[in-house]
Amino acid sequence: MSFSSDFLDLLRDRVRVSEVVARKVSLRKDGREFKGLCPFHNEKTPSFYVNDDKGFYHCFGCGAHGSQFDFIMETEGRSFPEAVEALAGLAGVEVPRESPEARERQQHRNSLQDVLEAACRYFERQLDSPAGAEARAYLDRRRITQTTRRRFRLGYAPGGRTALTQFLKKEGFDEALAIEAGLHKPAEDGRSPIDYFRDRVIFPITDRRDRVIGFGGRVLGDGQPKYLNSPETPLFDKSRVLYGIAQARDAARKADAIIVAEGYMDVIALSQAGIEFAVAPLGTALTEQQLEELWKLAPEPLLCFDGDAAGLRAAARAAERALPLLQPGRSLQFVRLPEGQDPDDLIQEGGRQAMEELLAAAKPLVETLVEMEAAALERQTGPLDTPERKADLKKRLRQRVAKIVDQDIRALYVQAVREQLDALLGFVPRDGQAGAGAGPRRPWVPRSGRGGQGYRGEAFVDPYQVQRYNTDRQSVARTKARREQELLVALMLHHPVLVDEFWEGLSALNLPDPELEPLREALLNHIAHEGVSDIRAAHASLRNAGLDSAIGRVISSDVIHDHPYAAPAGDEKTARLALGDLLRRGLHQSMLVELEDAKAAVIAEPSEANHARLSALKEALGRMGGSAEDPAMDGGGRSAAAPGAANGGGSFF
Ligand code: UTP
Ligand code: MN
Repeated sequence: MSFSSDFLDLLRDRVRVSEVVARKVSLRKDGREFKGLCPFHNEKTPSFYVNDDKGFYHCFGCGAHGSQFDFIMETEGRSFPEAVEALAGLAGVEVPRESPEARERQQHRNSLQDVLEAACRYFERQLDSPAGAEARAYLDRRRITQTTRRRFRLGYAPGGRTALTQFLKKEGFDEALAIEAGLHKPAEDGRSPIDYFRDRVIFPITDRRDRVIGFGGRVLGDGQPKYLNSPETPLFDKSRVLYGIAQARDAARKADAIIVAEGYMDVIALSQAGIEFAVAPLGTALTEQQLEELWKLAPEPLLCFDGDAAGLRAAARAAERALPLLQPGRSLQFVRLPEGQDPDDLIQEGGRQAMEELLAAAKPLVETLVEMEAAALERQTGPLDTPERKADLKKRLRQRVAKIVDQDIRALYVQAVREQLDALLGFVPRDGQAGAGAGPRRPWVPRSGRGGQGYRGEAFVDPYQVQRYNTDRQSVARTKARREQELLVALMLHHPVLVDEFWEGLSALNLPDPELEPLREALLNHIAHEGVSDIRAAHASLRNAGLDSAIGRVISSDVIHDHPYAAPAGDEKTARLALGDLLRRGLHQSMLVELEDAKAAVIAEPSEANHARLSALKEALGRMGGSAEDPAMDGGGRSAAAPGAANGGGSFF
């Protein structure tokens, strides 16, 4: 039995080594790796390491070493095909049966690859031929050396209509195959097909293993379009490709860094200047798949953007995409180029040194986020010098931060963003220490017996990270809180569509129940990556992730009995109302906590900002329909949809 390399890659992508190992060995995070006691020999102190980026485990004690597949084979005494089966089970995918059609498809892909490779060689030869004189002169003008041309396999597509078509025909390639590979355009009116690339410098695009999958072609002068890329084909998916990845891989691993530039020529110029770990998407915003690919090579890819408005927008889009995908130790950095310059221009003018200076000044994502949001808002409304505008900025940032799925990172972002806002908007920090003499030290403010978790600073308050239990009415509240959390998770489990709808609220939550919280997080993660379509696969993968008992508890809880809409295939409309209500009440509760702090702040320091915050809160609470004054009246009988869940206060937030 043979498996396609694509399928094995897919398994490696879907199931990390650490996940496989963690089923047998208890692992602890250690920098970018995990470590634990080696299962292959007896030891008392851990010398067994797992590195997900590199895709292997390694024991410094006994030398055991291998992949996900090896681990299963070694620890369970299975054959390779059995290990593949087992991993496929963990990944929630079917092992493709080797049907005649599958074999044919694989062969077809191989022959697509063959025709692309043949075309690539043809273009390379053309660049060296008399027909390529002008293209060579163009590359000379752009100061691309011979070595670089070979390294990136640059070529030239000649000007006629059918030069490549005829060549491939002579080589015995099927015309339909060449069309499918994106090399010819089917002709109109019965004439023979014409070449897709004509009179252009050719930049071959490869997959990470250096197999040609498509091409980019640049006009020699100022024509339009400046660049043409291969059309989408079975091999060429623009949303996954990173130009230069094959050339950059080794250097990136070695440097533990990777640069993302905007264009072909940037990657080439960087490489020629000795900065070999650079790639570029093909003129589009970075996709999730591309980010994942980058993170396999380096923990904090460096994104280069032009300093103009378009560049900032592109950076903002990349940041937005990255937020839900952040994990401990895994982020982005941003390098801002002088306006109107790309890395190629910069290197032509200032050489490698100019680029390295900029790289050294790269800014972390968290900082860039605040800057970009502030800049975008200023463009819209003007300088951020009124309470309303400042509050608007806070609100926008809060929404951004809520997109972070990883709890620890989210909490740390709340803190970091607040500090930056303090600096940016000129607030005096509450403890008066960092303010450099800006005003008197504030008196101590009592925290109204709520454990003091509600208030987190003036500039930025996370409404979700507030007190977990209402200590006054603890015992009643606790049962209620438990049931509410079970209901919430049951709704997520059985109505994944709603998870998508209420994404923001759900991802900002932090359930106090230690068993349900990991399930909430895992569900969000799963849906973020796999979408809502295959709920069975979702449950299987959650069970495999060790959430079996949490799922069991939710499924067999009274809550489902009491609220049939929370059962599988329960009424979705009612479920939507109930979930909305749960989230709203959670928010309401946390705003009440914030309100008390806002009042205390006004008493202690009746500044404009504090008054503004208090009245904004009162207004928002008023709009929500609850009493702004008395927490005990919270939510009384407001929802008909979720009768058991929606009465009284004591919510789980
Ligand atoms: P740029 O115009 O910044 O490319 O577009 P560049 O590499 O600096 O081009 P030179 O220096 O003028 O040769 C960035 C990327 O956007 C895509 C290409 O992938 C390009 O590298 N693009 C640009 C297109 O696909 N089509 C176009 O017409 C222009
Ligand atoms: Mn350029």
